[in-house]
Amino acid sequence: MRAVRRPRDAAGMNYIFDTGSELGRHHLDHLGNLIDAPTHWCLERRGLSPTARCLEIGAGSGRIANWLAARTGEVVAVDIDTAQLTDLAANVEVRKHDVRDGLGVDGPFDLIHARLVLMHIPEREQIFAELVNALAPGGLLVIGDFTGRRLHPISAPSAEDRALWARMQYLSHEVVGPAGGISLTWAGGTAARMTAAGLTDVHTMEYSETTAGGTDGCLLHRNLNEQAEPLLLAAGATPDELARYRELMTDPSFTAWFYQFLCTSGVRPR
Ligand SMILES: C[S@@+](CC[C@H](N)C(=O)[O-])C[C@H]1O[C@@H](n2cnc3c(N)ncnc32)[C@H](O)[C@@H]1O
Repeated sequence: MRAVRRPRDAAGMNYIFDTGSELGRHHLDHLGNLIDAPTHWCLERRGLSPTARCLEIGAGSGRIANWLAARTGEVVAVDIDTAQLTDLAANVEVRKHDVRDGLGVDGPFDLIHARLVLMHIPEREQIFAELVNALAPGGLLVIGDFTGRRLHPISAPSAEDRALWARMQYLSHEVVGPAGGISLTWAGGTAARMTAAGLTDVHTMEYSETTAGGTDGCLLHRNLNEQAEPLLLAAGATPDELARYRELMTDPSFTAWFYQFLCTSGVRPR
């Protein structure tokens, strides 16, 4: 059965993608294929304790929750939509919960991780403060999000396709995304935010790569474009533009930069 989301007003709108759908599952698979490796690096650069209690916020398909569960003591995986949290290790506990209403589980935690979640939720500052408060002394907070750095095309079949790419990036990132509560400027401030909250050993890793049509990055763009179709049409995109853009995202002769991913961590003093 599909998850039913609680309605919010215009200031606190809902996540614009549908985690529990088939497109939602492919969305999470592409993300994992693209950024699990740099995420693992961030999570283990200070070492992981086999007895650590971990919290995974916006757990998605549970790939990171499972990875943590294999290396730590236990993981609580929280998501507003738990439809994809099915194939999990025995030491992963699933909580279906909207983190705009508190974290849904009591701390303290030795490790808290939230990837590509806070950028989607307008109440991100409040949730950030709750994550800091839920850390055990010596606990590690790891937050990863995409930035708004321009996604320059590198090669395209035609000048018209380059223009179409630019138009879709504009509509997605400067019209539909902000109207849906997405922030692409939040990630750049996470390190300063952690320092201001009293965390120490604050560190940021930047990861980015190019993507070609038919590979995970472009297939993710195509997937998000399909999930956001009603919003893009309302923003002025035409059905012909959407159709050509999706074709382009499978064409290996198209290449562009994929999102810059920032993964920032900080430690609560003992
Ligand atoms: C872009 S996905 C990222 C999933 C996963 N963290 C990853 O990186 O693969 C965002 C996730 O946050 C969840 N989410 C969105 N809004 C939420 C909320 N208010 N409370 C809890 N989870 C939320 C979505 O259901 C989805 O699983």
